[in-house]
Amino acid sequence: MKLTILSGLLILGAVQSVNAASIYAGEAKAAAVCSQCHGIRMPSADAPFPPLAGRDADYLKTALKQYRDKTRKSDIMNAIAGSLSDDDISNVAMYYAKLKP
Ligand code: HEC
Repeated sequence: MKLTILSGLLILGAVQSVNAASIYAGEAKAAAVCSQCHGIRMPSADAPFPPLAGRDADYLKTALKQYRDKTRKSDIMNAIAGSLSDDDISNVAMYYAKLKP
């Protein structure tokens, strides 16, 4: 079921511009991984986790790379970012940056 949704998103992404494709990939990743903690539609203000929606894409990318190479410490985020590729990071950062807070 998850796979069907994912391939649907990928096909959808393929007929869009490169930018849109990345956002769809980012959305799929966010839905599968990040939303458990960061929320997907952002109830951010009262969430226990930092809000990501509408944040600067470069800021998000930098933060994720810092978590990945452990120059920024967080047990949770170090573990999660450790499995993200550069593409994942760009896609997810772009997705959250475009999301309305
Ligand atoms: C298990 C819960 C959990 C999941 C899943 C999770 N995060 Fe986090 N995230 C946190 C916590 C807790 C922090 C605060 C860590 C700190 O103190 O630096 C955080 C911080 C962040 C920050 C820094 C925000 C800021 O204001 O500097 C970013 C960016 C981020 N997460 C992105 C992501 C992305 C992208 C994903 C999915 C790939 C993800 N997170 C999945 C718990 C989670």
